[in-house]
Amino acid sequence: MSSQPEHPALLMPGPTEFDDAVLQSMSHHSESHIGPDFLATFGETLTQIRKLFQSTDPAAQPFVISGSGTLGWDLVSANLVEAGENALVLSTGYFGEGFADCLSTYGANVTRIDGPIGGRPQLPEIEAALSDKKYKILTVTHVDTSTGVLSDLKSLTAMVRKVSPETLVIVDGVCSVGCEELAFDEWGLDGVVSAGQKAIGCPPGLSISFFSGRAMQVFDSRKTPPSSYFGSLKKWRPIMQNYENRKPSYFATPSPQLIHALHTALTQILARPLAERFQKHAEVSDKVKEAVRELGLEIVATKPEDQAHALTAFYLPEGVAISDILPKLENRKVIFAGGLHKAIASKCIRFGHMGVSALDPNRNHIDHGLQSLRAALAECGYQKPRTRDS
Ligand SMILES: Cc1ncc(COP(=O)(O)O)c(C=O)c1O
Repeated sequence: MSSQPEHPALLMPGPTEFDDAVLQSMSHHSESHIGPDFLATFGETLTQIRKLFQSTDPAAQPFVISGSGTLGWDLVSANLVEAGENALVLSTGYFGEGFADCLSTYGANVTRIDGPIGGRPQLPEIEAALSDKKYKILTVTHVDTSTGVLSDLKSLTAMVRKVSPETLVIVDGVCSVGCEELAFDEWGLDGVVSAGQKAIGCPPGLSISFFSGRAMQVFDSRKTPPSSYFGSLKKWRPIMQNYENRKPSYFATPSPQLIHALHTALTQILARPLAERFQKHAEVSDKVKEAVRELGLEIVATKPEDQAHALTAFYLPEGVAISDILPKLENRKVIFAGGLHKAIASKCIRFGHMGVSALDPNRNHIDHGLQSLRAALAECGYQKPRTRDS
């Protein structure tokens, strides 16, 4: 149960619902961002980020910077690529397209490989592209929130290491960190950019990223300065290192209240084995997907191995409009999200099942979401197609 005032269950694929302790930790008196108490909280938070990414590499560098998830794309584009260098972007939806757009904005020479809608680009095609041209970085969206497609980072990274060992593998983990398996060192990743407001369960406003020692070396060997001021890793790295060493320093004022929320959320996440957290998200996701199929509806991510555990994006039945069903769900105190990927935006809705909504059975969010979905569809006039045995 939650002690929060009654409100509709926010079952969008982010922002997600808060745990009470996370919410309460933001109600913290104002404090100096360079005072000893806050240095300890922020320093510990950065060390927790290493654990969240299952990394023990002391040369890897965590960054927590005020901004939304999109800031992660800017960090990569302004620091790890120089104008005119080649970037290969694997896209599984709206957010892959956005990452490509951001890289181009900073002058990278971008090649995009798009998966089919509801699928992901396949390894032979990616391998052919990497063999054809030298790429400084490859980016991949772990979970594209517009389609619910999951990418297989482990096999992808193993292939990149074989075919083009120098190419940095950078992951958009905004909708995966905290709910999908992600073994940074073991898989040999070079960077993950994420945010607090999805499976981590914090309010929006924090860009959370993690770069390997190798990526930081590539950054150090730039010929030109970083092409952003606020987003310069040159400015932020000493600040992050100082916080982790409890030393006061300043580049731009952090938000102590958001850092308190993140610290509380990470303390809760790390109190249990990460594998257990990923498994629970997978079980909830399976349950939602089963119920959606049972209703006779089609999931956007077609193959089971491509289906994310963070959310379920599914097509609405013929004749049921998004503008019709979302208010009916909201009347039942459930908030889902409409479509986002331009090719299917008017045809699908998205049910987010991350964080406390997936993990705390006392909230009853998942069953309530599914019951409300059934009732709202019926109210829209939808009847499940009859099978031969029904
Ligand atoms: C996969 C992915 N990448 C990037 C972003 C951008 O994050 P933000 O909206 O916090 O800027 C989102 C937001 O939903 C996302 O889902």
